Amino acid sequence: MTTNEVAGPSQLLAARLQIPPMSYSHASGSWIFTSDGRRFLDACSGIVNVNIGHAHPTVVEALSDQAGICTYASAGSFAPTHMEQLAAATARAVHRPQDRVMFTPTGTHATESAIALARLAQRARGETGRHRVLTASLGYHGNSAFVLALSGHRSRRPHEDDSFGLAPAFDPPYPGHHLGCRFPVCRADCAHAVRDAIVAAGPDSVAAVLMETVNGTTGGGYCPPPGYLRALREICDEYGVLLIHDEVLTGLGRTGLPLGSHHAQDAEPDIITLAKGLGAGYLPLAATMIAPELADSIMSSGRWLPLMGTMSATPLQGRVGLAVLSVLDEIGALERDQVRGAQLGKILAEAVRDLPAVTDLRGVGYFYGIELAPGTIGEALRTTRSNGLLLYPFVGFHPDRTGEGLLIAPPLNATDAELEILGDGLRAALARIGDGAPVGAS
Ligand SMILES: Cc1ncc(COP(=O)(O)O)c(C=O)c1O
Repeated sequence: MTTNEVAGPSQLLAARLQIPPMSYSHASGSWIFTSDGRRFLDACSGIVNVNIGHAHPTVVEALSDQAGICTYASAGSFAPTHMEQLAAATARAVHRPQDRVMFTPTGTHATESAIALARLAQRARGETGRHRVLTASLGYHGNSAFVLALSGHRSRRPHEDDSFGLAPAFDPPYPGHHLGCRFPVCRADCAHAVRDAIVAAGPDSVAAVLMETVNGTTGGGYCPPPGYLRALREICDEYGVLLIHDEVLTGLGRTGLPLGSHHAQDAEPDIITLAKGLGAGYLPLAATMIAPELADSIMSSGRWLPLMGTMSATPLQGRVGLAVLSVLDEIGALERDQVRGAQLGKILAEAVRDLPAVTDLRGVGYFYGIELAPGTIGEALRTTRSNGLLLYPFVGFHPDRTGEGLLIAPPLNATDAELEILGDGLRAALARIGDGAPVGAS
């Protein structure tokens, strides 16, 4: 028995997809190889995190080198040299060079830190009643009990009794999700839903608004209409509310620019979270970044920083994070002047053209959602896999809990040839849905 095989019933409690898991042997670049010798294109970069591909030599070298030098030196006792360097490099990478950066292991922790920092910053400026955080009715920010209670992930939201009285506060400007929208198509003015939510909550009680800049795994690539993120910024300013952008998925190049908010003008938030593309699947690593004046006010208020846990900042995370950022820089993913990923957009539009199983294609850069006809997701997962593609589903996102689709998010350094393979495999797979042909027959 190899280490990848398990005898008897699984004792592991873990999420499963609608199709059985496979046994892998190894991975390299955009590919994962199975134990029986097949190869699969990792067209979703794991869960939209393996953004520079598998086993990148620069990261592998940093990992193995630092593993032999020192993996842990407790913060406080030893100067966190690599984490200091990583803080500066992360701030530069997203073009906010003066930001202060707090590291934690996961995107969930980054969200928790962002909320804690927002509340502390409000208190530091004398706004002692501001504790509420307003979120959208479609969106995801992590899986702790607190953050899930705030999230607009319909199937993951906890039972009402377990939600601490918390719930999302406003509808986002995505087709079909902004209930009662007074325009035929959502536009910047739809940010009035956020203003209404602030007013309804009582502005003096609101610490922050928290939102994804491009909707991620819940709705699969919905983009806000032009001007929306700027309007959101203006509304927050009007009411003294801090703005947190969740860039856990979108940050560090996934949308074709270093941040999702870089697609908008004058939309700079106060606090940003990053995670998936920072650890890039090599180790757990997330960052919460905050504007320097807010950080300074917190620090001078003499309050403790939140969430500094055992594995918040280690030399190994520092080395690996720096290596990942150097690769992202090398491939141009941290450039702000040109949106990357245009070729993927063209390939996908061509791949899904006139296919009856596809009802929508949305997204930007290297992140897309393909919405599918009702009842086809299981078949779509099987046909895409049988055409050599690994894809991740998103389901139940419409207000009536219907909705199904596939995320497309190849590594940011996938070659043109790999993107072509993705497009060809996708078209061949989705064209077979509903045609009655046995899966695996292509
Ligand atoms: C937008 C967004 N925020 C937060 C999270 C939580 O990150 P993690 O799974 O690392 O806790 C995710 C994870 O998918 C995400 O997509």
